[in-house]
Amino acid sequence: MRTKELKPVLLAISISAISGLCWSGTSFAQTADQLYKRALAATCANCHGTDGKGVPEGGMPLINNLTSQEILTKLKGYKSGALEGTIMPQLAKGYSDEQLTTIANQLGKKQ
Ligand code: HEC
Repeated sequence: MRTKELKPVLLAISISAISGLCWSGTSFAQTADQLYKRALAATCANCHGTDGKGVPEGGMPLINNLTSQEILTKLKGYKSGALEGTIMPQLAKGYSDEQLTTIANQLGKKQ
């Protein structure tokens, strides 16, 4: 492989290292848009587990049983104050509605 061809690969590796993710089985051919969406949703994995599988032993709710619409409704509820919580209200307020939609679409159960 020539150095010229190696550069995008190295860039992709450093992007995934920065966002602290390990995407097994996915290629580095993801677009910047996909990377952005996954990185946004990755924040949630700290507590809810990878792709929303939850961390049952950590007392963190599983969210991959919810559809994108249900997740979005909850997130907007936390943001507006309609829903109470210990963590999620503060967190939801930090995102624009557009970002919440992106996150919900990324994590929601695929029917
Ligand atoms: C620091 C830990 C933490 C992070 C990070 C976090 N959550 Fe939560 N989440 C919680 C906790 C704890 C609850 C229970 C409600 C509360 O106390 O705020 C919850 C509840 C929820 C619920 C409601 C689940 C239900 O069944 O009612 C949804 C949906 C949710 N989180 C989505 C997200 C999304 C999307 C993100 C990423 C933007 C995220 N969470 C990031 C801890 C976290």
